[in-house]
Amino acid sequence: EMSPEERAFQDRVDQNIKIEPKEWMPEAYRKTLIRQISQHAHSEIIGMQPEGNWITRAPTLERKAILLAKVQDEAGHGLYLYCAAETLGVSRDELMEQLNSGKAKYSSIFNYPTLTWADIGAIGWLVDGAAIMNQVPLQRCSYGPYSRAMVRICKEESFHQRQGYDIMTKLARGTPEQKAMAQDALNRWWWPSLMMFGPSDAESVHSAQSMRWKIKINSNDELRQKFVDQTVPQAEYLGLTVPDPDLKWNAESEHYDFGEVDWNEFYQVVAGNGPCNRQRLRTRVKAYEEGQWVREAADAYAAKKAARAKA
Ligand code: 3HC
Repeated sequence: EMSPEERAFQDRVDQNIKIEPKEWMPEAYRKTLIRQISQHAHSEIIGMQPEGNWITRAPTLERKAILLAKVQDEAGHGLYLYCAAETLGVSRDELMEQLNSGKAKYSSIFNYPTLTWADIGAIGWLVDGAAIMNQVPLQRCSYGPYSRAMVRICKEESFHQRQGYDIMTKLARGTPEQKAMAQDALNRWWWPSLMMFGPSDAESVHSAQSMRWKIKINSNDELRQKFVDQTVPQAEYLGLTVPDPDLKWNAESEHYDFGEVDWNEFYQVVAGNGPCNRQRLRTRVKAYEEGQWVREAADAYAAKKAARAKA
């Protein structure tokens, strides 16, 4: 049974009135937002590693410049989202400790290796494509700071997706070896991209409550289906084959039917046993420790500025 406060809160959510930081909110709503926003931010920061791996080996100066800009955008997305999480009363240091200690989750997709340049195309096309599918609805999320961060992030994501698809198009229309590279990348990234949307609705722990609170606008399976329906024609246009023998257009439902996700793999990667989980965390901790002097310098500068302002 809801308290009068919870009733009033839920009415605001139902009327699509944004909830702002200083307003009353159920403790569980706050906790869910801190969980989801921080995991989202961690995903952006860790997501810089697989792509960063190819900045020094991009095939042309133009591709290097585009990839640099994209990785820099991901860092910015992470910072917007950490700032949104901080409005809920959690500190940046706490969030960093949760990530660096391995306690925090981040998107499973970033625990896979980027083995060839084609992976950079597949990530832009599939991973950023899936991210857009998930982030566009989140612009309508009930929590003001999160929905506004999503508006900014979505503007940049379409460039990320376009440049990835452009790489895949170049390779698919290139030499037989290049087309084989594009197909190999699709083979390795297709299923992990479907896993980005989370467990099936039946298995989803948070969906029901998160949808009542408009922290989740569409269900995991709904967005996964939308992603498949949109992406399969793009693969066909490239002349590439989606690695799913059960994939088939269903004229009845007007959706693609597709095979079962390997949920054992999903839960293994989420549990920290994916191909790159340990490496991603080691690299993250090393970068954080090596950045200590920058944080100290910024603090010292801020303290001097504050002292001067008082003088
Ligand atoms: N990787 C890791 N953990 C995952 C996951 C995934 N792909 N999908 C689900 N989980 C975890 C959840 O965090 C939850 O664990 P927890 O209770 O310990 O936090 C558990 O599995 C149960 O899953 P639920 O479906 O019940 O959890 P959610 O309601 O949180 O749904 C979600 C998962 C759809 C990812 C949701 O959290 C969400 O929409 N998050 C915001 C968007 C986001 O984080 N996207 C990550 C993509 S990376 C990205 O966008 C960067 C871009 O630039 C590429």
